[in-house]
Amino acid sequence: MSEVACIGTSRALMITLLAAVLLSVAAPGAEAARAFLVFGDSLVDSGNNNYLATTARADNPPNGIDYPTHRATGRFSNGLNLPDIISEKLGAEATLPYLSPQLTGQKLLVGANFASAGIGILNDTGIQFLNIIRIFRQLQLFQQYQQRLGALIGPAAAKQRVNQALTLIVLGGNDWVNNYFLTPVSARSRQFTIPQYSQYLVSEYKKILRRLYDLGARRVLVTGTGPLGCVPAELAMRGSRNGECAPRLQEAARIFNPELAQMLKQLNSEIGSEVFISANAFKMNMDFISDPGRYGFKTSKIACCGLGPYNGLGTCNVAANLCRDRKVYVFWDPFHPTERANRIIVDQIFKGTTEYMNPMNLSTIMAMDSRT
Ligand SMILES: *[C@@H]1O[C@H](CO)[C@@H](O)[C@H](O)[C@H]1NC(C)=O
Ligand SMILES: *[C@@H]1O[C@H](CO)[C@@H](O)[C@H](O)[C@H]1NC(C)=O
Repeated sequence: MSEVACIGTSRALMITLLAAVLLSVAAPGAEAARAFLVFGDSLVDSGNNNYLATTARADNPPNGIDYPTHRATGRFSNGLNLPDIISEKLGAEATLPYLSPQLTGQKLLVGANFASAGIGILNDTGIQFLNIIRIFRQLQLFQQYQQRLGALIGPAAAKQRVNQALTLIVLGGNDWVNNYFLTPVSARSRQFTIPQYSQYLVSEYKKILRRLYDLGARRVLVTGTGPLGCVPAELAMRGSRNGECAPRLQEAARIFNPELAQMLKQLNSEIGSEVFISANAFKMNMDFISDPGRYGFKTSKIACCGLGPYNGLGTCNVAANLCRDRKVYVFWDPFHPTERANRIIVDQIFKGTTEYMNPMNLSTIMAMDSRT
């Protein structure tokens, strides 16, 4: 009798031990890091557009030439993009594109990337790219994601995982370069002055962020636009002579970004919590555009991969010029930074002062959130 009890006890103990071992094995991978959710445009698209009938894509070489697999993945970069580097710093694997067939089972715990190259705040931005995932659709897919996550770990745990996730949203650049300034006289530029359009964008963006909050996001990094007039594409198209940035696009970025930051403050005070964190992408990029040498870059004017003046025309493909040393270029293609420039931006996201990250940087957020 006592022997049976003894065996029973040791078996129970074994099962407990086994469970503990299994849990500790499972923990570092999926469970250890918080989930990471990504929304926005080509600056953060990790390959959703590969699955769509659109011209806004980067699934051809030499994109990805410095990616671990040395293959094009749909990222608009020679290597890693912003979300990849943030994931790396969170100690997590990269979030998969939401449309990837690999995003199933335990992978859902890591998070998801809903971004789609070409989209903007407005529904009419990027219409020339045909079939892309506009922001309202990205938010719908986010709801679908939560249902799938709920089916995996239960609705309450799914909700908690989403509430505790880190979210990144990058929008606005295309509303200017691929809408307002797309043609010499666009429909939007006939309708609005730059300040009026900026106000309209910010008011529409506010609705999007409200919705993101209503869907459960509680820590959201929001980047404004970079210095739109300084990208090689605009230097080339607007006939810059000595690499000077296009003034009207710079004016737009200088008006839009502070208004966006102000709106985030307002939204946080309405919600009563510091949900939205403003990342000053304009300043982060301007630092190495105005003084590339200080960051070890040889040029911030010429793209590594492209054609024509400043390699700013067309898209990056096998027929384009390709630089040898990607590390000394700020821009990979006519619009998007190199992996090295992205790394400097992510360093600022983690450690930047309030001029760069407001009200606080990501290391402070991580420290705060791990205490609760
Ligand atoms: C954009 O489209 C969505 C539906 O897809 C709609 O709910 C939203 O109101 C539209 N935004 C504007 C500014 O028209
Ligand atoms: C940002 O992060 C660093 C630590 O990485 C910290 O010392 C600094 O105070 C933070 N700055 C702000 C403004 O939060």
